[in-house]
Amino acid sequence: MKSIAIFASGSGSNAEAIVRHFQARTDVQISLILTNNPEAGVIKRARRLHIPAVVFDRHAFYETDRVLELLVNQKIDLVVLAGFMMLIPEKLIHAFPEKMVNIHPALLPRYGGKGMYGHFVHEAVVAAGEPQSGITIHFVNEVYDDGEVIFQATCDLEAKDSPEDVARKVQALEHEHYPVVIDRLISNFTE
Ligand code: GAR
Repeated sequence: MKSIAIFASGSGSNAEAIVRHFQARTDVQISLILTNNPEAGVIKRARRLHIPAVVFDRHAFYETDRVLELLVNQKIDLVVLAGFMMLIPEKLIHAFPEKMVNIHPALLPRYGGKGMYGHFVHEAVVAAGEPQSGITIHFVNEVYDDGEVIFQATCDLEAKDSPEDVARKVQALEHEHYPVVIDRLISNFTE
């Protein structure tokens, strides 16, 4: 059995899509959902989906090994960031080489980097009059939105699209592709 831990800071719609994808499986399980935000919608979803949720604060994340120890104790094989809004400490990245992935709601390398998350991304895409947007799934390194790209998918935009319209199109792509890409990745891991 391979184990996934999901980090999320917000609503958790991607976390839920991933949990549902693996729900009936006997070879992969979602062991843990971790969040830095005690108010995050993802906590309610975790409860509803019967996945243990862990809340940690900034101090624990950056100044202690508690999160790393938890992942190691739970024998986590793959770390999945799904709307997680903190930079991952180096120690954690080095513990999961090519075993930590992130999804970004735009076509990297454009519209990425610090401050470019969630709605801000879609606002920038609309302001620039882009004819397309999309999603990027990539390995995580020490820089925001900078690791090797694993997968991209695009959607067409119309001139009248608002940031909310773009968000809707991008989110549909995320829910369709992120679970499948994770599945492909973890299925290739050897024990
Ligand atoms: C998703 O659109 C994800 O791509 C984005 O946050 C949203 C989380 O939605 N992540 C980033 O912007 C990271 N730079 P969710 O909480 O409903 O899954």
